[in-house]
Amino acid sequence: MAIQTVSTTPFSDQKPGTSGLRKQVTVFQQPHYLENFVQSIFDSLDGYQGQTLVVGGDGRFYNRQAIQIILKMAAANGFGKALVGQAGIFSTPAVSCVIRKYGAFGGIVLSASHNPGGPDGDFGIKYNTENGGPAPEKVTDAIFDRSKVIDQYQILDVEDVNLDRIGPTSLGNMTVEVLDAVNDYAALMETLFDFEQIRQLLTSGKFTMCMDSLHAVTGPYAKAIFEGLLGAAQGTVQNGEPLEDFGGGHPDPNLVYAHDLVKVMFAANAPSFGAASDGDGDRNMILGNNFFVTPSDSLAVLAANATLVPGYRSGITGVARSMPTSQAVDRVAEKLGIDCYETPTGWKFFGNLLDADKATLCGEESFGTGSNHVREKDGLWAVLFWLNILAVKGESVETIVKDHWATYGRNYYSRHDFEGVDSAVANDLMAGVRSQLPSLQGQPLGSYTVAYADDFSYTDPIDNSVSKNQGIRIGFTDGSRIVFRLSGTGTQGATLRLYVESYEPDATKHDIDTQEALAPLIQLADQVAKIKELTGFEQPTVIT
Ligand code: G1P
Ligand code: ZN
Repeated sequence: MAIQTVSTTPFSDQKPGTSGLRKQVTVFQQPHYLENFVQSIFDSLDGYQGQTLVVGGDGRFYNRQAIQIILKMAAANGFGKALVGQAGIFSTPAVSCVIRKYGAFGGIVLSASHNPGGPDGDFGIKYNTENGGPAPEKVTDAIFDRSKVIDQYQILDVEDVNLDRIGPTSLGNMTVEVLDAVNDYAALMETLFDFEQIRQLLTSGKFTMCMDSLHAVTGPYAKAIFEGLLGAAQGTVQNGEPLEDFGGGHPDPNLVYAHDLVKVMFAANAPSFGAASDGDGDRNMILGNNFFVTPSDSLAVLAANATLVPGYRSGITGVARSMPTSQAVDRVAEKLGIDCYETPTGWKFFGNLLDADKATLCGEESFGTGSNHVREKDGLWAVLFWLNILAVKGESVETIVKDHWATYGRNYYSRHDFEGVDSAVANDLMAGVRSQLPSLQGQPLGSYTVAYADDFSYTDPIDNSVSKNQGIRIGFTDGSRIVFRLSGTGTQGATLRLYVESYEPDATKHDIDTQEALAPLIQLADQVAKIKELTGFEQPTVIT
């Protein structure tokens, strides 16, 4: 066994963002770039000698090469075992599931989530800890600090591992165990949901479903679970072949990028139920026949109906949502008499709440929903949760959501993204809004009155860690809000996100077009932040 110690020099740009380190593939292909980051991860950890590391990715371009490098480095650094998905593939929630099931020390997830792939697309790497969740900020900060001074890394000089053959092989002193990528995850799903009842629904002849995997990682999972275990018709899963470049598409499950699904679900004879997932399988979009469910509403509906589902039959202890996510779930929590936590954007902030059993369900407006079954958001889990509710209730998606609004009121909600804004302009814009915050407090703004205006700061209730500058929020006395944030996952320029929300208790006013209902707030946001003037954008690039 030949352990090589390779000299290197630091890269200055290896700061993990909202969800790990994301860069263009060409950046990762620079000599030593990936190796430096991987060694910085290992150098920031203690006690992994002889332990197990889970490794897998969403199958995008550079996935296989990166996995070979990581395995050889893990072996050289003294890990005892690596669990890898067949062909190097694991969805992000499957990595979380496997870390937890096999008591691994941690895992490395290779993905740039919903960002496009291919040689000119993006790549990403993220470290997850033993609870199966993304490393908390203290760990990602340590990794970044290490990356700034790193001067060498260890790697084994050996042949590549065969990632396609299931079973164990030796790599130096480490065992590499190639696992079926789907089995452990599917088995976990069977413990949570009433597969028999869902099977009856899907084979009843009265219910049709379309699942769009967007040529990304969930293809094999969705086929095995929906078409295999649950008996849905062949062809229920479309775009189900994972491709290294996602077929040239943008693997983000929203109304813009999941256009094939939108076409099917908004047609005259649309299926009863439609869903899509993203590049790495942690996001979901839920659609009914000619009906879109906002992710914020989806979280609220799941929370309100959780006890219909076997895995949550005994009730949920609490819920958590990211700050920009609509407050729809807050109303459900209030009615159930459970706590609702508001966290910064990014799944890593839910980990402590889930570990401490303070929250059972969590969600983000960015098409992310999940629970304490793993420590990542989980796209197919959300789809199964909806199917289970639909099977029990025997109602349409639209009826379930509209009844929910009638009970709790409707939170009109939308996010406007301005992608590819010049970074300096974006920072100036945010600074401009920030400077107005002290004077906005208590003041009238348009026909609204400002109740609070601040830069969101979060103190973790478990470890008391403080995360500052997590988005600027302007809340009004009637519960409406506008929120400004800069994306932490983009790889080029800056993306400004504007989140807008208003609350309508009156059921006779629940059928207004969302953009129309929010128009006064959208206009106020532009007035405060001067978005059009400063960015030169007349329109957002994406509206969700
Ligand atoms: C985006 C979403 C955020 C999500 C993250 C990872 O981050 O807004 O909710 O957790 O992707 O999927 P952002 O680009 O806004 O920093
Ligand atoms: Zn994702």
